[in-house]
Amino acid sequence: MSSSSSNRDHEPLSIEVKDVTMIFNMASESLTNLKEYFIKMARHELFFEEFKALKNVSFDIHRGEVVGLVGTNGSGKSTMLKVIAGVLEPSEGQVVVHGNIAPLIELGAGFDPELTARENIYLNGALLGYTKEFIDSSFDEIVDFAELSDFVDMPLKNFSSGMVARIAFAIATITEPDILIVDETLSVGDVFFQEKCERRIQKLINSGDVTVLFVSHSMDQVERICERAIWIEKGDLRLDGPVDEVCKAYREQFE
Ligand SMILES: Nc1ncnc2c1ncn2[C@@H]1O[C@H](COP(=O)(O)OP(=O)(O)O)[C@@H](O)[C@H]1O
Ligand SMILES: [Mg+2]
Repeated sequence: MSSSSSNRDHEPLSIEVKDVTMIFNMASESLTNLKEYFIKMARHELFFEEFKALKNVSFDIHRGEVVGLVGTNGSGKSTMLKVIAGVLEPSEGQVVVHGNIAPLIELGAGFDPELTARENIYLNGALLGYTKEFIDSSFDEIVDFAELSDFVDMPLKNFSSGMVARIAFAIATITEPDILIVDETLSVGDVFFQEKCERRIQKLINSGDVTVLFVSHSMDQVERICERAIWIEKGDLRLDGPVDEVCKAYREQFE
């Protein structure tokens, strides 16, 4: 059930997720204010419930695979992407990543709303490991792709979330990363921009060895782009296999 069954099995490993459990501590009662919180804490009356967002999840992704992560809301998809991207440390288990990751995970992560779009392109590019010279030479292409040339010197706080997503996507895909991770954030853009992003992802996929891990609320999009899907449900790995099989099983649960 957890074999990847793709034709990339002979390729070197790109992402290894080994028995990953992610526990979040949730306050077990709702506190109305900070004072109450500190009083309870001082009295050692503050209890937390452990919430497992991921439970012993394991899978391997090979170089060049294009994998969709599916599951109902709150099932742990974004948490899984964050653990892979190194944004979150797993409570148990281990993730090994081979190569550099371009993560498109949380909208606005790596951006400063007070800075202009231009300054944010340099800031975010630096976080992705690009040199200043490289950003200088790619700047126009990034701005063109994001279709925001009239707004480059405007502070980012005046941008809509869709505009921020455009910039983030344009920066992350200006080079060919080893691993591209895309969370649902892309869906905030308008439909034309989504199609443009999909074309660029497709181009990255066709051009070579890039590994793609993709979360989308659109099953059609997952089936269009991915060859394999991993279904995570309420923190459990439910099914891992060819995209049509997994999507079929996923759809059937709602029938
Ligand atoms: N930082 C956090 N602290 C506490 N709970 C969290 C945190 N991040 C996510 N969760 C919880 O973990 C579960 C999985 O969330 P998430 O990975 O965002 O799901 P998905 O992306 O599949 O919708 C949800 O119940 C969510 O509320
Ligand atoms: Mg999510």
